[in-house]
Amino acid sequence: MNVPDLIQKKRTGEAHSAAELGALIGGYTRGEVPDYQMAAWLMAVCFQGMTAQETGDLTLSMARSGDLLDLGTLPHTVDKHSTGGVGDKTSLVLTPMLAVLGLTVAKMSGRGLAHTGGTIDKLESIPGWKAELSDEAFLRQAREIGLALVGQSRNLAPADGLLYALRDVTATVDCLPLIASSIMSKKIASGAQTIVLDVKVGAGAFMKTVAEGEQLARAMVDIGRHAGRNVRAILTDMQAPLGKVAGNSLEVREALATLRGQGPEDLRELCIELAVEALTAAGSPEDARGRAEATLQDGSALAKFRAFVAAQGGDPEYVDDPALLDVAPGRAELKAGEGGYLSSIDALSVGRAVLALGGGRERKGEAIDHGVGVELLVKPGGAVTAGQPLLRVYHRDERGLSRALELLQAGLLIGPERPQVPPLILGRIG
Ligand code: URA
Repeated sequence: MNVPDLIQKKRTGEAHSAAELGALIGGYTRGEVPDYQMAAWLMAVCFQGMTAQETGDLTLSMARSGDLLDLGTLPHTVDKHSTGGVGDKTSLVLTPMLAVLGLTVAKMSGRGLAHTGGTIDKLESIPGWKAELSDEAFLRQAREIGLALVGQSRNLAPADGLLYALRDVTATVDCLPLIASSIMSKKIASGAQTIVLDVKVGAGAFMKTVAEGEQLARAMVDIGRHAGRNVRAILTDMQAPLGKVAGNSLEVREALATLRGQGPEDLRELCIELAVEALTAAGSPEDARGRAEATLQDGSALAKFRAFVAAQGGDPEYVDDPALLDVAPGRAELKAGEGGYLSSIDALSVGRAVLALGGGRERKGEAIDHGVGVELLVKPGGAVTAGQPLLRVYHRDERGLSRALELLQAGLLIGPERPQVPPLILGRIG
């Protein structure tokens, strides 16, 4: 392989063969291709793009750069991925629903990244719950209760880890084939036969417009099919946070309320929609909506979540009585300066406010405060009067409070007219 030739080829807009991409990614993962050559190639990809075939081949090379998890002994395996949002506690509700519906969820989940939360951080709000399981325990639990969730500790798609770090410092993160291959390489290496993607669109998401979201969703669905998986994607609104709270313990409480058949309507609806997509992709579409709704109404998804928490060392008392979960004692409210309608609460500002309070990390490995967060007392579209509390902040000893209030204030907009609130589901691909 002559790396300058490959860079030149991409720079002039030619397509690579699967063998060329395999050699480049393999060489980079083994440390034989230096960062400066890889960075030049990444920038050429940003300018010239990639065909669907190339993006698929790139993804497979990245997936094969480390271990490929073999879930072949488990029935109807399903994985779900969200491109990242604020207040997005969907996995906590959806995964036990899917397990009750006869699918097997053996899933790697992430920690929070920048202003977006992560499933593992949320679950760690439950005392005793552990994100690490041996391979054997992971597969056994998935077989026995249909649900096992662990952190990304395995050697999965190491090429993605290396490329992501390089992209981060060379202004090449924001490039569709690179984002799609990055996400899908990890999903393919994680082994599930069915993959459901929730592509977030709006202020709090990577993709700011529906057109961008559609392109990303289409690219990821095509990659999954190229790899022989069943993949469907939905595009969902992330202009404002999902549900009414953001922050780890608060989100677990809200997820538990939803599993009890209560909880905010948008969260419940998204979980049902994703369950329908998963059942349809897995070849079981009959009365999918009715069956999905029943898991929340009859308590079966809640019972499954309780069994899952206990299996991974968590204390199920916290599932039975969510008020026991630690929520920071400090309270501050942000009030409406004028009357009218709440036009928007920017998800990005809410995510950054949680980060400022200590609920997320600015550097890898930092400890976080699971108890802090933000509660939306009014959702966009709601009528407000001057002086009415709009947001409640849960803080500990005022740490980060003034910065959080500043961010939240800047992210609020009140107008004289009732605004057009975007629908939750903005599109479907697959
Ligand atoms: N998430 C990923 O895993 N990779 C990207 O490139 C962007 C978001």
